[in-house]
Amino acid sequence: MTRILISEAINKVGDQVVLKGWVHARRNLGKMVFFDLRDMSGLMQVIVPPNAEEATIKAVKEIRPEFVVSASGVVQARKAGSENDKLASGKLELLCEKLEILNEAKTPPFEIDNEDRQASEELRLKYRYLDLRHERLQKNLSLRHEVILFIRQFLSERGFREVETPILSKSTPEGARDYLVPSRLYKGKFYALPQSPQQYKQLLMCAGVERYFQIARCFRDEDTRGDRQPEFTQLDLEMSFVEREDVMRLNEELLIEIIKNICPEKKIQEVPFPRLTYNEVMNNYRTDRPDLRKDKNDPNLLAFCWVVDFPFFEKDDDSPTGWTFTHNPFSKPKDEYIEAMKSFGVSLSQAHILKNDKVIPTILTTQYDIVLNGWEIGGGSIRNHKLEDLLAVFKILGYSGKEVTDNFSAICHALQLGAPPHGGIAWGLDRLIMVLANEPNIREVIAFPKTADAKDLLMGSPDEVTPEQLNELGIEVK
Ligand code: AMO
Repeated sequence: MTRILISEAINKVGDQVVLKGWVHARRNLGKMVFFDLRDMSGLMQVIVPPNAEEATIKAVKEIRPEFVVSASGVVQARKAGSENDKLASGKLELLCEKLEILNEAKTPPFEIDNEDRQASEELRLKYRYLDLRHERLQKNLSLRHEVILFIRQFLSERGFREVETPILSKSTPEGARDYLVPSRLYKGKFYALPQSPQQYKQLLMCAGVERYFQIARCFRDEDTRGDRQPEFTQLDLEMSFVEREDVMRLNEELLIEIIKNICPEKKIQEVPFPRLTYNEVMNNYRTDRPDLRKDKNDPNLLAFCWVVDFPFFEKDDDSPTGWTFTHNPFSKPKDEYIEAMKSFGVSLSQAHILKNDKVIPTILTTQYDIVLNGWEIGGGSIRNHKLEDLLAVFKILGYSGKEVTDNFSAICHALQLGAPPHGGIAWGLDRLIMVLANEPNIREVIAFPKTADAKDLLMGSPDEVTPEQLNELGIEVK
C-alpha cells in the first residue's frame, strides 16, 4: 500500500492506511503504547495495542524520539475525552497493526516536540536540519513558499517574465562591500557576487523585455543584523514605459493581494497605503522607516506606507566631491531637478568646489521606499535612461567620465542604443515574510541562515582551502 500524508488520513476514518514519518513523542499508558507520529503535514496519535504481532511489539519497545517509522493500521475516532483540539487530526488516531523502524536516531541535541525548552541559537543553527523540524519553522517555510508562488502567479498573469541574471558578475558601487570570487583563468582578476541585479535588469529593459521580475539572491558583505544577512532574497522587478505611479500602484496591489490570499487573519491599517515625504517622516518620526501602527500590541496589524521625495545626494567625506548617493546611483532625479543636476560640469581637479554646494542637497530623487511596521521592506525608482543624465549623477559622485565608461561600459553603451524609459523596485522578501510570520528576525524565515558574525555553523563556512586550491588561483594569504 502506498504511504499517505497525515493530512490526507483525516478523511479516511475506518480505512486501512500506511503513514510514515518521525516519532515525535511517546508515552506508555498501562499496556498500551501511544506515540505521536509527525510528517510534513502534521501529527497523528498512533496506538499500538498489546496484542499486535511480535515484530511490532519489538519495534515499539525500541522507538525513541526522531526514529523514522512506517505505521500501518486503521484510522479511528479517539475515545471521547481524549481528543486534542489543537491538532487537525486531534479527533483521530491510528490503530497500528504493523510498525516498522525505517531508521534509528541518536538522542537529538535538543527536543523537537517542545520548542519552548529550546537550545541556544548556536546549537539550533549547527543542527539546522533538526531545528527546521519544529512546527514553527515548517510553517515559516510554507508561508515563504506560498508568498513566492503567489508573486510568480500574479506577475505572470500581468505579462511579467522571470529572468535569471548572473551570480558571477562584476564589482560595482551599490553602497555595500562586494563578495569577490577569484578567477582561475585570469589570475589577479575577480568576479563579484551581485549586491542586486540592478544593472542586469536595466539591461533587460534595453533588451526589450519590458516586464521583468526575479526571485533574486543578493550578496552584500556588510555587518549582519536581525534584518540583514550576507545573502538574502529580493523580489526584483523592472518595467519599461512607466512612471513612478505605475510601479507603486502595481506593487501596492500585489502586497494587498498577498495579505488577502495568504494571511487573511491580518488587517491592513490603511488602504491606499499612506504616502509620506522624507521630510515629513524625519520631522515627525525621526526615522525614514516609521512604524505607523496605531496598536503595536496587535500581532495582526500591518501598517504599510510609502516614503518618497528623498534627497538624491548626501555628504560623504570619502568622496572626492564630498557627496555620495542616498539610495541608488542609477535613479533619475525628479524631473524638475534634472537641469540643475546637469549644470555641475566640473572636471575632477575641481571636484572639491562641489563640497559646499547648496543646490546638490536639494535635488530630490524619484526613489520610493515601502515600509511595513517600521521595517524597510523595499525600494525602487525610475532610472536615468539617458546617458547624459547618468553621467551627471556620477560627476557629482566624483567619477571621471572615463571611470564611468570603464566601470559601467555595458549600461553606458546600452543607454545609447535605444533604451526605453524604465523603473522598478526590489523587495526584501525575507523581511516581508518575517513580518507576516510575526518573527523578530529574518533568520527565522531563511532555511539556512548565517549567524550574526556571518558564519554558516552547519557547513562550517567560511573555511580555509588547500594550498593547491590557492595556488591554482594565484593567491597567497597574507
Ligand atoms: P536596496 O539596496 O534598497 O535596493 O534593497 C532592496 C531591499 O532589499 C532588502 N535588503 C536586505 N534584506 C536582507 N539583508 C540585507 N543585507 C539587505 N539589504 C537590503 C531591504 C531593501 O529595501 N537595486 C535596488 C532596488 C531598485 O532600485 O530596484 C536595491 O537593491 O528590504
